Parts: sequence; structure tokens; C-alpha cells
Amino acid sequence: MRKKYIIGNWKMNLSKNEALSLVKETISVVDGNVKANIVFAPPFIFLNEISDLCKIKSGFSVSAQDCSSNELGAFTGEVSSKMISSAGVSYVIIGHSERRSNFKETDEILNLKIQQALQNKLQIIFCCGETLEQRENDSYLDIISTQLSNTIFKLGVDSFKNIIIAYEPIWAIGTGKTASSLQAQEMHAYIRSLISNNFDKNISDNTSVIYGGSCKPSNAKEIFEQDDIDGGLIGGASLNSSDFISLIKLF
Ligand code: 13P
Repeated sequence: MRKKYIIGNWKMNLSKNEALSLVKETISVVDGNVKANIVFAPPFIFLNEISDLCKIKSGFSVSAQDCSSNELGAFTGEVSSKMISSAGVSYVIIGHSERRSNFKETDEILNLKIQQALQNKLQIIFCCGETLEQRENDSYLDIISTQLSNTIFKLGVDSFKNIIIAYEPIWAIGTGKTASSLQAQEMHAYIRSLISNNFDKNISDNTSVIYGGSCKPSNAKEIFEQDDIDGGLIGGASLNSSDFISLIKLF
């Protein structure tokens, strides 16, 4: 049985008070019957406190939004995988399109980050996704195949078991325009076939592949019901407790 996930990627939003109340409210309202792992991905500065709050109830955990490609040393402002792991954090997001485009993160840099994360026993939420132009000129399947082949498909089987794939079409991120359930399912099934070809069917059947891009309570139900979709990576709708809780309750 594949694990299901609802992961809230807060990006650079919320003050400390807002962050703590959002987490406390979510934890107090969501009961233990939810069949998804719920993960908060706050900015680094809040990870410690939110990680402590998540220990109160099973099923909740925290993720870093990024990690350094270096192990340690003179890299002002950077946070290493070792630091993240030693703070009790289990996950890290790598390859988000905002990091690829705004911070010029190449596949080479992503591979270094992946190695750092794996060496420090972090589970990786690895993002991939195509632009609107690539969607419209029908190269979107090839684009995703290349993004995965250049990075996580280079890993050995044991390392790959620590990967959760997040398909996030760039044209759907923060635009209010989500992929249709058909478009998302097509891509998720394709990603699963790629995993099968690169590793084997058993690995493919056991890898969680989640969808991200303008998921809201009003549109996510149909997406999450698709056979190959194992949950969501949520941006905007993870910033207020009522939307986030509604999304969690879809599981
Ligand atoms: P939105 O849900 O705001 O579109 O963001 C998705 C995302 O980028 C999550 O990582």
C-alpha cells in the first residue's frame, strides 16, 4: 500500500504567531483516522517549534523547504542536511520550480542536494513539472522524463526508496489554474511507467507520487481520487487552517 501525503509548502509566508496557531489548530481538529501523512513545510526558522508541536499527535511531521548542496563550511545563510536532520526533521523538498528558476538550481546542484539529504537520512520530496509552453507544444512528457532521468533515476534502488515525487506543472503553481484530473492522472501514470522501466514494477507500485498546483478544497477531491495520485503538495491553500484541514479531510 502506497503512503498518502498532504504536504503544506508555506514558501516565504506567515509570521511566527500565525505559523504556530495554524499548526496548533490543524493538529487539534484533525483526528487520528486520517489516512494521509500530514507534513508542514515551514521556513527554516520555525522548523524546531513546529517539529515539537507535531510530536503531540501521530501522523504529523515537518519538512524543510530546501537544503544546501554542501556538507558544511563557509556558506553564509545556508542550512545543511545534517542540521535539518539533527533538528528532528524527516523530509526535505528538493527541485521545486521556484528554486530551479529563481535560484538557478541546475540538475547538477539538485544531485548534490539529493546526496546530502540521503547521507543524512532525510526523505526527499522531489519536484518536477513543465512550463505552459512545454505543455502546449506537447513536449511535457519528455520534459518530465528528462528531469527525472537526470536526477533521481540515477539513484540506486535503496536510495530511491526515500523519494516521494511531486508533479507540479509550473503553469498551475499559484495561478489558480489547476491541472484537470485527467491531465494529472495522465502524467502520474506516465511517471509510474518511467519508474517501472528504470527500476521495476514493485518499486513503481510503492512510490508515492503527489500532485501540486493550485489545489483547493473545491478542486482537489477529483484529483486525489485518481488511481496514480497519492496526495498533494499544497501552496496557497496550506496557509489557512480551514482550507488545509478541508484538504486533509479528503483522506
Ligand atoms: P499553489 O498551491 O499555491 O499553487 O503552490 C503549489 C506549490 O508550489 C507547492 O509546492
